Amino acid sequence: MSDYVRIFDTTLRDGEQCPGATMNLQEKLRVARQLAKLNVDIIEAGFPIASNDDFEAVKTVAGEIEGPEIAGLCRCLEKDIERGWQAVKGAHKPRLHLFLATSKIHMQYKLKKAESEILRQAVEMTKFAAARCANVEFSPEDASRTERAFLAEVVEAVIAAGATTVNIPDTVGYAVPWQYGETIAYLKNNVKNIERAIISTHCHDDLGLAVANSLSAVRNGARQVEVAINGLGERAGNCSFEEIVMAIKTRRDELAVDTQINTREIMAASRLLSQITGFPVPPNKAIVGANAFKHEAGIHQHGVMANKATYEIMTPEHIGLNAEEIAQSLVLGKHSGHHAFQKRLVDLGFSLSDDELQKALVRFKEVADKKKIIYDEDLQAIVEDVVATGVRPTYTIDYLSVTAGSHQIPTATVRLRKGTRVKELASTGDGPVDAVFKAISKITHVKATLVDYTVRSVTSGREALGEVTVKVDHKGKLHTGVAASTDIVEASAKAYLNCLNRLF
Ligand code: KIV
Ligand code: ZN
Repeated sequence: MSDYVRIFDTTLRDGEQCPGATMNLQEKLRVARQLAKLNVDIIEAGFPIASNDDFEAVKTVAGEIEGPEIAGLCRCLEKDIERGWQAVKGAHKPRLHLFLATSKIHMQYKLKKAESEILRQAVEMTKFAAARCANVEFSPEDASRTERAFLAEVVEAVIAAGATTVNIPDTVGYAVPWQYGETIAYLKNNVKNIERAIISTHCHDDLGLAVANSLSAVRNGARQVEVAINGLGERAGNCSFEEIVMAIKTRRDELAVDTQINTREIMAASRLLSQITGFPVPPNKAIVGANAFKHEAGIHQHGVMANKATYEIMTPEHIGLNAEEIAQSLVLGKHSGHHAFQKRLVDLGFSLSDDELQKALVRFKEVADKKKIIYDEDLQAIVEDVVATGVRPTYTIDYLSVTAGSHQIPTATVRLRKGTRVKELASTGDGPVDAVFKAISKITHVKATLVDYTVRSVTSGREALGEVTVKVDHKGKLHTGVAASTDIVEASAKAYLNCLNRLF
């Protein structure tokens, strides 16, 4: 059996299904470019029938990203498959990913169909897809709760109908590692034509077992793993990209398999996704958490100084945290010129147009006036803030003034610009940020409910940049806005407006 494990990234599809993680086209493209840098085998770019935006996103990724295969998800329906094919057919290596539930509970209550009907539909639709695209993946949804004999029957039939990959989803994160591994082994032993297809895993993390289950599947013969950056996905999320890839790399002695992932791009990918979605990475998160390579206890520090391997099973450099780079990043400040700024951005993996670079430089100078040292994290926040949101703003802030204090009613005066028109209004609120949000809502006439508001210090110190993430609910859909400034009221105003600009 081959010792090569394909990495199928579904950040842009299952990841984006996570409430509040909606990405616009530009953001999806940026994630897709980073996935290509990571050297993933397959990018699942979306669910083309779901909406016009999804269709456009999949089509654009298919047209622009070279290297990985580009997959589009489809239900087992002709109209889905036609639409999916229109979206991915421009890719160098297109893939259609079909799914149909096979567990008793899904067939009875969701689909209201008998086993024989499901089997027929799976076969017919796989043939329909294979007539358009040579690369077809089939997922029996809720496979881990499907009767094994029926699962084997479906898998064998879809392989005969043209499926080249059979994915075995643990859709509800119910499996435990040994049982999930046994299911893979069962399929290998009981499906006659199994050697004609790649077996894939797709594990959800409801019990915190997604990575363990995926590893168990690999141990039993799966050769594709479906993952998402930072473990993003429905409910508790998907198998985490960084965890499975680093587990395979670090424990090659046990697993004896490899991936082709450029692990040095992992940290950049994790940061990019966290910036775009506004979901912070917990400090204790394996691999990419801020504390993942920090040693606090004296005994540990002493051990690491004597020999890193005493307490480090992998190095920060493996995931793209380069000690030298961190040291270099300290030199940018108010006196840094255009060239140093541009070089640092290139080193960090940003490729900006001249116009974007100019805007980022202006913002950099503004921040550097208030803050002595500009760290890489600050630069990343500046770029995100100024040029990279992909949202052409309908409204911009012309003027902002806030008064607040222990004996004052917090009041904000905001002037917004829309094209050549400006409008100014004052509002009071429960606090300065609330007053600003109310003034902005009055000017823009948008009725959105604030569902989440977080402030995070991008770096440490009194003059650190504060990054504000705002999530609002507008007509049942969640929208995220992110902005950074040394003044958190200003960052809050910009983040809120960034959110509203997405609605227009
Ligand atoms: O969790 C799941 O079953 C899925 C399928 C569509 C593969 O996401
Ligand atoms: Zn899923």
